[in-house]
Amino acid sequence: MAKAGVLTRSRSTKSIAEDEPPTEPHRTAKWLLVASGKGGSGKTSTSLNLAVYAVHAGLKVVVVDLDRQGSLTRWYERRPPAAPPLILWEGTMSDAKRAIAEIGALEDVDLVIVDTPPGLDDHPDSTRLLVEKSDFVLVPTTQGTTDIDSVVEWMGFLRRERANSAFLLNKVQRTHTRYSKAKARLNGAGLLCPVDVRQLDDIESTHDHGVGVCELRKSRAAEDLGCVWDFVKQQLALEGAAR
Ligand SMILES: Nc1ncnc2c1ncn2[C@@H]1O[C@H](COP(=O)(O)OP(=O)(O)O)[C@@H](O)[C@H]1O
Ligand SMILES: [Mg+2]
Repeated sequence: MAKAGVLTRSRSTKSIAEDEPPTEPHRTAKWLLVASGKGGSGKTSTSLNLAVYAVHAGLKVVVVDLDRQGSLTRWYERRPPAAPPLILWEGTMSDAKRAIAEIGALEDVDLVIVDTPPGLDDHPDSTRLLVEKSDFVLVPTTQGTTDIDSVVEWMGFLRRERANSAFLLNKVQRTHTRYSKAKARLNGAGLLCPVDVRQLDDIESTHDHGVGVCELRKSRAAEDLGCVWDFVKQQLALEGAAR
């Protein structure tokens, strides 16, 4: 679990050891931005599945839906009552500044996962704010040429901003020649998550039932997304959190 080790007490002239017990260290939330220019690349599916892994690892998780289409919110509303709870923050890209302030004021949050809409070019200020705030930016893409073109350009921006970021290949069909071509192009343009996510029906089921693949009884997609969670944990220095 991420702990920044920052004491919440204010400074006083007395030494801490003198009369007060030490306060608990205040947790600093890690921010994961899930963003790519195109719709349908798996931003929402990746966000919700990583959030479920995180909550099962015992983390306090906020999911942020900044897409006015509201797919993440609809998934959240379908979540079974017995499932481990997440916190939802709902808005649009224009609310990015408010989201950062309001979520920043919440206590003991470990992880904030921000799901974004396509067309980030229409929101340059909010995009920049979110990139600056994020500890890691995950960029899902399919293996299709136009998707790859779009995310390679987006990665150029992220690298200029010195954002810690990586591509995630999603909906892959590993037997297609386009798959190896896509991997080669992405590897040349930035960091590529070493595990990709196959095109699998289980992912669709997670939207239907408000769950993550790791909450399904048998899921092939969990083999892929579990490894993506391990990669993201490493990038966010959350390695202590279980799978
Ligand atoms: N790996 C995958 N395999 C199969 N279907 C997927 C996969 N990833 C996403 N999908 C499906 O593709 C559609 C678009 O995915 P979504 O996560 O909503 O993309 P985005 O948020 O980028 O628009 C959804 O119906 C989702 O269930
Ligand atoms: Mg979406």
